[in-house]
Amino acid sequence: MIRFVFVLLFSVTLCSIVSCQVYRLPKNVKPLRYFLTMEPHLRDTDLQKTFHYDGNVKIELEVLEDTKSITLHQLQLRIDNTTIELVNSNGKENIVVDTSKDGRNETYTIHFGELVEIGIYNLTIGNFSGELGDGEGFFHAVYFKEPGKPRSLAVTHFEPTGARLAFPCFDEPALKAKFIVSLIRREGYISVSNENLDMTENLGDGRFKDTFKETPIMSTFTLAFAVCDYEATEKVERQRVYANSKAIKNGEADYALHTGIKSLKLLEEFTGIDFVLDKLDQFAVPDAYFYEHAMENWGLVIYGQSNLLRSNSSPAEDFKRTTSYIAHEYAHQWFGNLVTAAWWDYLWICESFASYFQYYIASLVQPSWRLMDQFVIDMLHTALKQEELRGEHPLNYRIRYSGQYPPFHIMYEKGASIIRMMEHFLTHEVFRRGIQIYLETNKFTATVPKDLYNAFQQAVNKAGVNNLLNNMTVREIMEVWDSTKGFPIVTVKRDYRTGEITLEQKSQFDDVDDITTSKWIIPINFLFSSDEQFDFSKTSADLWLTEKTATINRNFSTDGLVIVNKQQTGYYRVNYDLENWEEIIKFMNSENFTLIHVLNRAQLINDAFNLARLEEIPWDVPFRLGEYIIREKDCIPLAAFYDTISNNVFIYSFLDRKAKESQYFKNYTLPNAVPSEDSSEYYIYKEYLKAVLRGVSERLGFKSKPNDTHIDQLHRDKFIRFRSILEDTN
Ligand SMILES: *[C@@H]1O[C@H](CO)[C@@H](O)[C@H](O)[C@H]1NC(C)=O
Ligand SMILES: *[C@@H]1O[C@H](CO)[C@@H](O)[C@H](O)[C@H]1NC(C)=O
Ligand SMILES: *[C@@H]1O[C@H](CO)[C@@H](O)[C@H](O)[C@H]1NC(C)=O
Ligand SMILES: *[C@@H]1O[C@H](CO)[C@@H](O)[C@H](O)[C@H]1NC(C)=O
Ligand SMILES: *[C@@H]1O[C@H](CO)[C@@H](O)[C@H](O)[C@H]1NC(C)=O
Ligand SMILES: *[C@@H]1O[C@H](CO)[C@@H](O)[C@H](O)[C@H]1NC(C)=O
Ligand SMILES: *[C@@H]1O[C@H](CO)[C@@H](O)[C@H](O)[C@H]1NC(C)=O
Ligand SMILES: *[C@@H]1O[C@H](CO)[C@@H](O)[C@H](O)[C@H]1NC(C)=O
Ligand SMILES: *[C@@H]1O[C@H](CO)[C@@H](O)[C@H](O)[C@H]1NC(C)=O
Ligand SMILES: [Zn+2]
Repeated sequence: MIRFVFVLLFSVTLCSIVSCQVYRLPKNVKPLRYFLTMEPHLRDTDLQKTFHYDGNVKIELEVLEDTKSITLHQLQLRIDNTTIELVNSNGKENIVVDTSKDGRNETYTIHFGELVEIGIYNLTIGNFSGELGDGEGFFHAVYFKEPGKPRSLAVTHFEPTGARLAFPCFDEPALKAKFIVSLIRREGYISVSNENLDMTENLGDGRFKDTFKETPIMSTFTLAFAVCDYEATEKVERQRVYANSKAIKNGEADYALHTGIKSLKLLEEFTGIDFVLDKLDQFAVPDAYFYEHAMENWGLVIYGQSNLLRSNSSPAEDFKRTTSYIAHEYAHQWFGNLVTAAWWDYLWICESFASYFQYYIASLVQPSWRLMDQFVIDMLHTALKQEELRGEHPLNYRIRYSGQYPPFHIMYEKGASIIRMMEHFLTHEVFRRGIQIYLETNKFTATVPKDLYNAFQQAVNKAGVNNLLNNMTVREIMEVWDSTKGFPIVTVKRDYRTGEITLEQKSQFDDVDDITTSKWIIPINFLFSSDEQFDFSKTSADLWLTEKTATINRNFSTDGLVIVNKQQTGYYRVNYDLENWEEIIKFMNSENFTLIHVLNRAQLINDAFNLARLEEIPWDVPFRLGEYIIREKDCIPLAAFYDTISNNVFIYSFLDRKAKESQYFKNYTLPNAVPSEDSSEYYIYKEYLKAVLRGVSERLGFKSKPNDTHIDQLHRDKFIRFRSILEDTN
């Protein structure tokens, strides 16, 4: 799933109203198969009045221990308790003596007169109803088919706990079952669900009942259905896009259809496992009614329509979003739907992979867009920034109330960055083999992180590459990364006489709470300019830093510069002794700077400015390093520079526009600066930007050009923020 963050803030307030604890269903009953019928009552008038639906469900279930009651989830449903029946396969009925709702636990408990013995039963709840609410559960949306002609539709969003808002069910991700969904609709409407339509029954009075094929075993949160009067694109290779008829006629769904087709093939190839269902639809919901960006329901991916529909004139950023969101949601068809996180505390094992594939698969769909390079800016640098701002949580998390998610920036940006780190320290082929083993071993089940690590371990053992991990296990390494908040700063100190290198790791939290000094197991690799190869391609570890500090004597060169963390694949910042920073500044400001990999150029900029902010190095280091930007033509290090110099709240806040004297530029003189009376921070900042961004201004400019590439357009969208400063001729 991809979601707006404000919903999270909203949920946090809810937590202070109800008590913050998570209720887990008893383990005495396991659902096997649901027969669910829903009838939404849609109207195209009186749109302010509430919309309702009726439903009934038969749940085939296995009683695992003798019991006198069955508890399942429900929330805000009206259940007619005279229609409840529990019957075993011989037709013997257990009499219901009482039912009770628990609003706080979101449960419904059915009490029986006699003991219900171990066995298989059908539990029928013959009549319940609910309101088609807002954005969650089974909800409604309204759109204009033509001006003045509103149309309503009913659609679902169940992750994490919306299914219980729609129908009584065992609403925990590990309680997987099969579903046979029926939807009752009026003539002129259509219905869709996870699986293909199996049959339609005419009920009379213009009502029709559509029944869908039985799904594979799956979690409640990824079930989906909709009733609407949409149209669909033609079906190409099992796929269709559903949207309002105007969008379909204008071809606005075609890009999503073709991107979906490519993404699904690439994922099947990468995972070695064919997509399980017979079809995969994408469905557009009017944005104002859908709080998510997109949701990965198995076989029926649902998007806010502005994330899905594209016209030829859509901006580059919008094409990037559609492409990457499709890759994200399609990756969930394996990571989340086929193999599911057993509990929300480690939802990251699905979201991080989806966020990683969001870039990786999209980069294969659109090779010229350089999405794996953009990953470093969009995901890795954002993750580091977010963790510095609000990095209070490790990947593994403890959710505290029903409906809560672990923090999104941790699961998405940090998690994806950690997955990319694994890819590189394991090497791409071993990583891919590990994923295949993980999915094949755990398909149709729910997992915890150690299942993931075991699969990667098997891949390492099979390939005979335990030496890549210095004979440590994947689990040993990864359990440090999944349960430690923040990230390490690795400081590299060279002995320019002996060549010895001392590595030290520390955490931003070390000084604040010295009770838990963090210690990571960190993959380290080096690039020495004295090697003259400038080969940044080997991204596995040259060595592992397992202690707080380590001194390494491998007859390293004492000349030139060293750069640690090739292509910035490790999830950490790197600091150096000032002599090495001087070597870096000299080299980057020479005509040879392109010998440094673009991703390490981006890393150096991002690390240098942030290390100055953290008072690890003086401010003149990043400013002098940043002078090289005048010659930089590649948009990736430039984007790193733009983000660090303008977007970083810390740097931004230092710019006290009223201050007469500059603080941060104290030890720094801009080369060829025109003498000025003004020595304020903001003045020097502007002069600095004007000087170093002159090259981009001249080449790229602020106006679009007919021969702009997709990358040029994206680049200009980022660069445009400097327009007022660069055009200001004070
Ligand atoms: C439950 O109902 C379904 C559908 O009517 C039927 O196929 C199945 O055998 C029933 N299961 C039991 C345990 O009675
Ligand atoms: C149905 O619910 C009502 C109200 O909660 C309760 O009094 C009654 O005992 C219930 N009946 C059965 C059969 O569970
Ligand atoms: C609701 O949850 C609390 C705490 O887990 C538990 O003590 C209580 O029995 C639950 N209520 C029901 C009806 O299961
Ligand atoms: C379902 O129950 C409601 C009252 O709770 C009743 O009005 C309605 O007629 C019932 N529907 C069916 C199909 O039995
Ligand atoms: C790793 O294990 C192998 C086999 O036990 C051994 O030969 C090798 O020396 C070990 N390597 C390291 C770095 O400990
Ligand atoms: C260290 O490196 C230098 C230059 O590369 C080489 O001449 C010397 O033999 C090396 N010493 C050892 C102990 O490997
Ligand atoms: C740049 O590379 C050239 C050719 O390798 C070399 O002669 C020159 O010294 C280098 N300049 C710097 C500043 O490293
Ligand atoms: C400027 O240099 C002095 C002396 O080295 C140092 O103490 C100070 O922190 C530096 N100021 C900045 C803003 O880097
Ligand atoms: C793109 O067009 C501009 C003029 O609009 C021209 O100056 C530039 O050389 C062109 N670039 C390429 C790569 O064709
Ligand atoms: Zn997701």
